[in-house]
Amino acid sequence: MLKLGIIGTGAIAHHFVAAAHATKKYQLTAVYSRTMETAKSFAQDYESEVNLYITIEELLASTIDILYIASPNSLHYEQAKSALKARKHVIVEKPAVTRPNEWTDLVETAKEKKVFIFEAARNYHENAFTVIADFLADKDVWGAHFSYMKYSSKMPDLLAGKTPNVFSSRFAGGALMDLGIYPVYASIRLFGSPVDAHYLAHHLPNRIDVNGSGQLIYKDFQVTIQTGKNSHSSLPAEIYTNQGTLVLDSIEHISSAIFYPLQGEPQPLAISKAAHTMLEEVVQFANMIAQPQPDLYESWLLAAQAVHTTLYRMRQTAHIHFEGDLNEDDTSR
Ligand SMILES: NC(=O)c1ccc[n+]([C@@H]2O[C@H](COP(=O)([O-])OP(=O)(O)OC[C@H]3O[C@@H](n4cnc5c(N)ncnc54)[C@H](OP(=O)(O)O)[C@@H]3O)[C@@H](O)[C@H]2O)c1
Repeated sequence: MLKLGIIGTGAIAHHFVAAAHATKKYQLTAVYSRTMETAKSFAQDYESEVNLYITIEELLASTIDILYIASPNSLHYEQAKSALKARKHVIVEKPAVTRPNEWTDLVETAKEKKVFIFEAARNYHENAFTVIADFLADKDVWGAHFSYMKYSSKMPDLLAGKTPNVFSSRFAGGALMDLGIYPVYASIRLFGSPVDAHYLAHHLPNRIDVNGSGQLIYKDFQVTIQTGKNSHSSLPAEIYTNQGTLVLDSIEHISSAIFYPLQGEPQPLAISKAAHTMLEEVVQFANMIAQPQPDLYESWLLAAQAVHTTLYRMRQTAHIHFEGDLNEDDTSR
């Protein structure tokens, strides 16, 4: 049983703990919050004994085995780095970092300290992608269109003139970092690293993107990506091949994939959707710790590196700069 600590007491942390507990492989034992009141309020939903902390140093000095980080994006890197240095396994919410060199550094630190680092990019770990990748193996891919747009619960605040974390430059917010990461992960999971990428954004006054579209450019085809937080899209995802088109109901928590061949009847693929959006990833993380599979783990690390390199390239092309970026033209971070 992995003793689980968490940083960040928002709704997603409860959602994560529910998935983790459902596996019976994790037990919540520690909660960090900026206030004791919030830590108590979070922990009261759980029957087990949970230690509460208002400093990260004390949390990391505790006996937790693994830390789940669900704080605002720009805090992930420093918090993950501290935890790895304290020899805790880390599951960090997406986007794990805001610049690719930060991911490189976290991976090096994890290896040095002999612990695991995982990015909680849940769709990457869906079994549906294995089924889809197997199905595509004998086909030539000619392109894809992946869309993920959801009207944000924070839109009313934004429209009222406030700057919620998810739309802030300080916290590395915006549609691409928040939701665009899912189509980017899907593309890299299925087709590998693109040779280039770009993004055209609708900017807020602080230069953060509220929606946008872009392309991941591969040697022989392109993947079009659409994302946004001020509209809802129910567009399916499509993958175009020399033998027909594969249509997915979504790019995350996929429940159906139907192939429409150039001739003949539609062919549904055998997709089984997990009961909980985070279940497949939490199972895989726990299994990796219990019985390491170095090649598989390395493939996750490399995929994350490719994702963060791509996201960084996309936001540079759209002139999206966060407070923590060195300067507009810097590409070394
Ligand atoms: N995988 C998914 O499906 C999914 C879904 C939603 C979000 N996420 C990810 O989860 C992370 C958190 O998202 P969220 O919407 O929950 O963010 P949030 O509400 O802005 O913040 C999450 C928590 O971080 C702490 N926090 C808030 N503002 C802070 C500040 N100024 N300084 C330090 N700590 C602060 C708060 O906990 P305390 O008050 O207890 O300190 C808060 O509950 C993001 O990286 C997001 O991308 C993932």
